[in-house]
Amino acid sequence: MASIAIGADDAGAPLKERLAAYLRQRGFQVEDYGNGDGLDYPDVAAEVAEAVARGEHDRALLVCGTGLGMAIAANKVRGVRAATAHDPYSAERARKSNNAQVLTMGARVIAPEAAEKVLDHWLTAEFEPGPSSPKVAKLEALDDRYRPTGA
Ligand code: RB5
Repeated sequence: MASIAIGADDAGAPLKERLAAYLRQRGFQVEDYGNGDGLDYPDVAAEVAEAVARGEHDRALLVCGTGLGMAIAANKVRGVRAATAHDPYSAERARKSNNAQVLTMGARVIAPEAAEKVLDHWLTAEFEPGPSSPKVAKLEALDDRYRPTGA
């Protein structure tokens, strides 16, 4: 079963707790990187994204107030593709088109039941090699251009 890292700042903690329980119910192995606990979203996102980049998790879910700060921060880690999605179609395309290993959501912009549905779509979709492949390769080339050392 896939290993999923999760994390939140204080604003995202209640939704993250709910989604963590939802994932565990569905049999996923969940590693919880915490609820902010005084840390801001860039701190939590960096820790989780670095673990994904090291290959310690197949995917990660990050929750803050809007989902936006978590995505901005996670995308600064070389090799990580994080996408914010609050609707099922975007969540599905984040996998199929963008091969996003990280999904971010905002506790202040989506109802918990809707967030579970979005999460389902992201979990069940896989990257579709084909026309999207060279585009994702170009994303990886951007890492080479702007973050050649991973620093
Ligand atoms: C609170 O710090 C809020 O700004 C944060 O949770 C997130 O929404 C940022 O993108």
